[in-house]
Amino acid sequence: MSLPAVERTLIVVKPDAVARGLVGEIIGRFERRGLKPVEIKMQTVSKAKATQFYIVHKDKPFFGDLVSFISSGPSVGVVLEGRDAIALVRRVIGSTKSWEAAPGTIRGDFATGLLDNAIHASDSKESFDWESKTYFS
Ligand code: CMP
Repeated sequence: MSLPAVERTLIVVKPDAVARGLVGEIIGRFERRGLKPVEIKMQTVSKAKATQFYIVHKDKPFFGDLVSFISSGPSVGVVLEGRDAIALVRRVIGSTKSWEAAPGTIRGDFATGLLDNAIHASDSKESFDWESKTYFS
């Protein structure tokens, strides 16, 4: 069996998790799974940047709430590198909806709602390219 390719993906520790002092805990979970942080940035994103970052959701009814929440305080973006990184990170973070996220996943352990779900992660190579370019701009 051949090993999966080395990929990069982006995670963003959201303002709820930063405010609760969970940055180290969350990044540490990825490091312990063998994923390497290769870029990191802490910032309070502007509403303009948040609008670009979440542009795929622009027609959703919750778009305004999403933009307000992600720009409500400091967040931490990390580019992670490792084998099968995009899919692996999605498994480690768990389901979007806090009440569905399995215990042991990041959201299953820390998310408290739909918006305040602790973490965002790219769901494809295309999302990673767009989101990392936007977050690190
Ligand atoms: P995230 O992974 O950052 O990607 C988009 C976000 O939209 C998602 O996490 C949730 O925080 C949020 N979201 C998804 N569905 C809803 C919804 N129905 N109402 C409000 N927010 C939502």
